[in-house]
Amino acid sequence: MGIIIKTPEQIAGIRKSSQLAGHALEMIKGFIKEGVSTETLDNIIEEYIRDHGAIPATKGYNGYPKSSCISLNEVVCHGIPSPDIILKPGDIFNIDVTTILDGYYGDTSKMYWLGEITPKAKQLIDDTYHCMNLGIQQVKPGSYFGNIGFAISRYAQAKGHSVVYEFCGHGVGIDFHEEPQVEHTGRRNTGPMMKPGMIFTIEPMINEGKSRTKVDKHDGWTARTIDGKLSAQYEHTILVTETGFEALTDVTGEYSE
Ligand code: MF3
Ligand code: CO
Ligand code: CO
Repeated sequence: MGIIIKTPEQIAGIRKSSQLAGHALEMIKGFIKEGVSTETLDNIIEEYIRDHGAIPATKGYNGYPKSSCISLNEVVCHGIPSPDIILKPGDIFNIDVTTILDGYYGDTSKMYWLGEITPKAKQLIDDTYHCMNLGIQQVKPGSYFGNIGFAISRYAQAKGHSVVYEFCGHGVGIDFHEEPQVEHTGRRNTGPMMKPGMIFTIEPMINEGKSRTKVDKHDGWTARTIDGKLSAQYEHTILVTETGFEALTDVTGEYSE
């Protein structure tokens, strides 16, 4: 199969879906309050996605039951929204939304927090955001996928954090998970070469302690740090353009070249 080069028509469709996913992450900010369950947030996200003519890609994906992933504190990724998980001050969490609009996929996530959080937690969140941005800055025609992981892991390690290597970014757009796997650790100028029209996610998961994760035996999805320390993640869907990149899921305008 190899890495799909998207046509202009496909790019336009993927951009539209990606923008909807990005707007869902902005919309949900208004509902984040102490005492709210992650299932309530998930229901609001699902309604928003469907009201905009799209489908939540995660619902039913390999048996995953919900419209978003909401991963609190030591949960690295794939936290299943639940009526039993209630937000409280001091929590940090990632919300990950993937939309299917007119058959096209957009995938993005960001960090949220409630009330006072520790300086260490805030630092981890800020450093993770910077890791994603360093990865994104490596994207241009002729660059290599290994440069993304190199830039991310060098910075994370300099800040005293570890990089999760058991979950990766991925090609996206026509399907949920396409080639290539986008690793968040790597060596310079290794891996496939980037070409205009490629679309993939960059979604580093950065841990305060050890990098290893463990998937919950009971639900089969929730991945936690093995040491119970905090984890953070940001994700954008990125297009390789003729001159560099476009962050398709960005709705804040901060990546305009
Ligand atoms: N959106 C996630 C990603 O970034 C994938 C979630 S798959 C699920 O790749 F089944 F856990 F929802
Ligand atoms: Co993804
Ligand atoms: Co995602």
